[in-house]
Amino acid sequence: MTEEKWGRVDEYLSSLLVPDVEALQNALRTSSQAGLPPIQVSAVQGKFLYLLARSVKARRVLEIGTLGAYSTIWLARALDAGGQLITLESEPLHAKVAQANIRAAGLDSVVDLRLGPALDALPVLVSEKAGPFDLIFIDADKVNTPSYFEWSLKLSRSGTVIIVDNVVRKGAIADPSSEDPAVQAMQRFVSMLGAEPRVSATALQIVGAKGYDGFALALVL
Ligand SMILES: C[S@@+](CC[C@H](N)C(=O)[O-])C[C@H]1O[C@@H](n2cnc3c(N)ncnc32)[C@H](O)[C@@H]1O
Repeated sequence: MTEEKWGRVDEYLSSLLVPDVEALQNALRTSSQAGLPPIQVSAVQGKFLYLLARSVKARRVLEIGTLGAYSTIWLARALDAGGQLITLESEPLHAKVAQANIRAAGLDSVVDLRLGPALDALPVLVSEKAGPFDLIFIDADKVNTPSYFEWSLKLSRSGTVIIVDNVVRKGAIADPSSEDPAVQAMQRFVSMLGAEPRVSATALQIVGAKGYDGFALALVL
């Protein structure tokens, strides 16, 4: 199967399963117009995150890596009444576009976007006692994923779901000789996950409009 075919299947599935929501289309449009890289989750993945958040009846969500707020809006729309989502973004342009998209989606009062490196923001969240979160989505700079996971555990409770994007890296995760720092970070992260007694975890390979990659999912015990 080719990447083109994966894309066509994603389009087919989204056309039947993912409704056109103007706030989400607007986030994609404005992100593209502002020149943001098209590295947001796909529509079917966004709906997956939404369903996961609804399944755990999430009221508090933490997202690490906002971009133009596409996944943010999916997750924020899933929250029960009174819910809150904190999202961390280090690039001022991405944060500006994201904030406008969050406002246009009517989610200003639900989403707290914090501008700055996530490794600075996470200790602040711990000191503010912002946790525990019900669901945490890690999708920022890949080399820091192991640290983001450690901070996420500090902001979790028994039952928290932690999802990590881009763990498969076009299959390079299984290449022990890879010299790519993002791959090496994901290899460290998956090893941590397997050895971490506080979670039960798995990881899935995914193909689709975004190529070949995958999610890891950890349940805090
Ligand atoms: C893959 S994109 C996020 C996509 C978004 N979750 C979505 O699916 O719509 C990664 C984002 O993380 C941001 N980022 C990179 N390094 C970061 C850091 N150290 N702290 C916070 N955000 C960071 C990037 O600027 C980028 O906007």
